[in-house]
Amino acid sequence: MDWGLRNRLARIIKPDTGRTVMLAVDHGYFLGPTTGLEVPRKTIEPLIPYADTLMLTRGVLRTSIDPSFDIPIVLRVSGGNSILKDDLSDEGIITSMEEAIRLNAAGVALSIYVGSPHEHQTLLNLSKLVDEGEKYGIAVLAVTAVGKEMARDARYLGLACRIASELGAHLVKTYYCEGFEKVVESTPVPLVIAGGKKIPERDALELTFKAIQAGAVGVDMGRNIFQSDSPVAMIQAVRKIVHENATVDEAYNLYENIKASS
Ligand code: R5P
Repeated sequence: MDWGLRNRLARIIKPDTGRTVMLAVDHGYFLGPTTGLEVPRKTIEPLIPYADTLMLTRGVLRTSIDPSFDIPIVLRVSGGNSILKDDLSDEGIITSMEEAIRLNAAGVALSIYVGSPHEHQTLLNLSKLVDEGEKYGIAVLAVTAVGKEMARDARYLGLACRIASELGAHLVKTYYCEGFEKVVESTPVPLVIAGGKKIPERDALELTFKAIQAGAVGVDMGRNIFQSDSPVAMIQAVRKIVHENATVDEAYNLYENIKASS
């Protein structure tokens, strides 16, 4: 791995803790104006001081993020479908590597749909992206998207994460599940977890805690932060677990305190 790629990865995964809090705000690429992200700038700006990385599309980056912010960008570069389609796996690459470089991205993110109708296409997309990432020193995050029929268990997620790393992804995003240690063990690159659908804050913090304990290097979390009653409090509580190994109680108390004082 060359210097540029290692440097970009070190901007995403903070070297002092070896962990990262990525803020995922890319949902609009197929969901449109997702609850909480109707006006992206309004939601994202107050959270930037507490995020290690922003994961988003080029459209939201250009229109809604001030270029003077010093935050690494992981650009979502796969898409081409919408929530109106039954099969969400029919994705292609929607943003070129040259554009990612022009936008000063530290990394690019692409979904793979293992076991879905377009599995093959999305795995080839990943392989092509890794070739380009290696060429220019841009980190590639593979997102193990789960089809409607897919179980989110250690067997399935372990399969998807391992395939992503075998194809060369530098970082993999997946879901937490029972037996997550096994998924971590069989994936030879760092793993971050998505938060999934909005759940009560304490439960989302517990999910974060369990994932970190099992060996995840952090989160790439969206709805459980920006749909929270207090997104600014929630992201700081998540940080406390990810970077300071706080317990769920400590993190939840922090959430409550910040929420009460804001
Ligand atoms: C898929 O829509 C995106 O990659 C999201 O960024 C991902 O699902 C993480 O967001 P959340 O924590 O809301 O699941």
